[in-house]
Amino acid sequence: MSEDIAIKIQNLEKVFNPRSVAIVGASSEPAKVGYQILNNVVQNGYKGKIYPINRKATEILGLPCFPSLLEVPGDIDFAVIAVPAPLVEGVLKECVQKNVKGTVIITSGFSEIGKVKEEQVLKDIADKNNIALLGPNTFGFVYSPAKLNASFGPTEVLPGKIAFVSQSGALAISLMGWTMMEKIGLAAVVSLGNKVDIGEKELIEYFNDDPNVSVILIYMEGIKDGRKFMSTKIKKPVVILKSGSSQRGAQAAASHTGSLSGSDKIYSAVFNQLGMMRAKTFTQAFGAACTLSLPMPKGEDTLIITNGGGIGVSATDECEDFGIKLLEDPAWLEEKFRQTMPEFGSTKNPIDVTGGGGCESYRKAVRIALGEDKVKALVVLYCETAVTDPVQVAKAIVEEYIAAGRNKPLVVAMVGGERSRQAIQTFNESQIPAMTEVREAISGLKALYNWQEIVSRPKENVPVPAIPAKALEIIEAIRKEGRTFLLEHESRQVLEICGVPMPKWGFATTAEEAVKVAEAVQMYPIAMKIASVDIIHKSDVGGVILNIKNAEELKARFAQMMETVKRNAPKAELLGVNLCQMVDGLQCIVGMNKDPQFGPAVMFGLGGIFVEVLKDVSFRIVPFSETEAQRLVGEIKAKKLLDGYRGQGAHKESIIKTLMAIQKIAQHVKEVDINPLITNKDGSYAVDARIII
Ligand code: ACO
Repeated sequence: MSEDIAIKIQNLEKVFNPRSVAIVGASSEPAKVGYQILNNVVQNGYKGKIYPINRKATEILGLPCFPSLLEVPGDIDFAVIAVPAPLVEGVLKECVQKNVKGTVIITSGFSEIGKVKEEQVLKDIADKNNIALLGPNTFGFVYSPAKLNASFGPTEVLPGKIAFVSQSGALAISLMGWTMMEKIGLAAVVSLGNKVDIGEKELIEYFNDDPNVSVILIYMEGIKDGRKFMSTKIKKPVVILKSGSSQRGAQAAASHTGSLSGSDKIYSAVFNQLGMMRAKTFTQAFGAACTLSLPMPKGEDTLIITNGGGIGVSATDECEDFGIKLLEDPAWLEEKFRQTMPEFGSTKNPIDVTGGGGCESYRKAVRIALGEDKVKALVVLYCETAVTDPVQVAKAIVEEYIAAGRNKPLVVAMVGGERSRQAIQTFNESQIPAMTEVREAISGLKALYNWQEIVSRPKENVPVPAIPAKALEIIEAIRKEGRTFLLEHESRQVLEICGVPMPKWGFATTAEEAVKVAEAVQMYPIAMKIASVDIIHKSDVGGVILNIKNAEELKARFAQMMETVKRNAPKAELLGVNLCQMVDGLQCIVGMNKDPQFGPAVMFGLGGIFVEVLKDVSFRIVPFSETEAQRLVGEIKAKKLLDGYRGQGAHKESIIKTLMAIQKIAQHVKEVDINPLITNKDGSYAVDARIII
């Protein structure tokens, strides 16, 4: 990490745990933002020194005022700046004079309206003086452990362990209200604003070492500096709610392979690679964040307890969908759980205590489940009935969970009306994640299993792989020629040097040479393709012939191809032909192109309809390790085909080898397209290859 960023992260301590706070732009008028911020700082119970700064007033909210930061007698750790845009630079310079190391600039009217230069001036001042700067254009933040509400959002937040970082101020404000209603506790709510300085990376790394935070939840619209974000170190679970997709990236994508990158899939790849978990909705995100505060499961066997068959079935479906394994031991379940239900109840997982099963049935069943090592995680479902009281059910379960020492993950879904809503709050107040939807509860549990996998990943420092000298020489020679792409045989040469597995192949300028090349390596049956700088779509001009079986046919076909191509493309200079052994197997696609934000990204997927219709491809950002390449291959939806379906299977080692090899040229070329890479039980083969420089 650059030293500057490290100092900024260190100085975030002055922002979140300041000994003194100045509010520049504090006003006595309740309708003004400056008044609201000061009021929030005071009302939230912040214990440090508070300095309202206002040019005219002598006292606001009972606190003595100062006309400028420079007039404040003591030190100031942190300044909130809420003055009109033209005055912000001057105030920031006063911060420098006063040695203030943490600031939040509330003021709007910078890059969001095109005033990029004005915003850069603020960044330069902050950088030069190691000031951690949040904003501009933010509503501020709340940090519960310091009882500091430096925002003009709602006054109250329920304290908890989730740090919520939001690129949207409005969403953060509204979700603050929602979390209050749901009784979900927050350690911090941070509105990022234009994030000219402090962004996601800095906050994640600050909260990494903050014992008051156990989970980081980020609402993101886009990343400003992709490479900086890629260097983020993860120590705690990070849940990302990302909206929109990168239009800019999609436009920049040119080739067939590239047209799929630069998109939302790249963001997914980035999150995946960094070990961040992506949520689709804010309820799912908060559900996951709450669940991630629970103890880790000590195995996979999950038990469902329900009072309704329907939601039990639905939870079973969801578990299968998320790949959560249910405990299966009918005899054991019958022996343990029969006592918790009437005769007509079911002891098959889901344990169905039936509609009449109230507080005591749940209490018994939950107690047994928490007490038995065989049960590794517990899902409790409840459908509101007239004969049971959801709040009492919730209280009983909470008591059992606390008595058992919160010893394993427990997630809850309560489906019903007002009383069930209250029951959900009862759970949330006791830090047991409870939702209104079965899917949300199960997806929260899945997040916990995901996090367990993420922490088990080996800590790898992956260097950018070096390009072999000979490969670079070929690329540079072509660049010097003024050409922007490599011909097929040149692409093959470069990729082969880097370690991409090739079928038997060769290049020939005459029919006789073609026969010699083919016989030297016993290449038959052969695919023959025309080589010409002037021809892009070879098959359109008769420049592709497949399945040539012997020398005689090769000679004849060579002559035929030359004649046809000359007729169809009379101006093209024909350099010769590419010869390539015909290979059978599964068609895959491997590509590399440059994402505008994150740099070179490698793509893998199955070819044909899988890529064209289903867009079933995944990405990783260069550099990535072999384990990451394995994860990439295991991520595509059609992975069953790779594992071997109806006799066909893939040679994964050589696919991984290809993904590792292609990274070596990522920094030196614009695009690589291996389409198809054919894989069978014996190996993988780059049957067609193209490099654009
Ligand atoms: N030193 C001390 N006090 C000063 C200074 C200074 N250099 N300059 C101005 N002041 C005082 C003013 O006199 C005024 O106090 P008063 O009410 O006693 O006269 C106070 O500071 C505020 O200045 P105003 O000129 O009244 O500015 P106003 O409050 O109207 O607006 C603000 C300032 C709120 C920063 C505005 O420019 C702005 O940017 N608003 C948008 C904020 C925003 O929406 N941020 C993004 C939120 S995220 C979301 O979307 C939810």
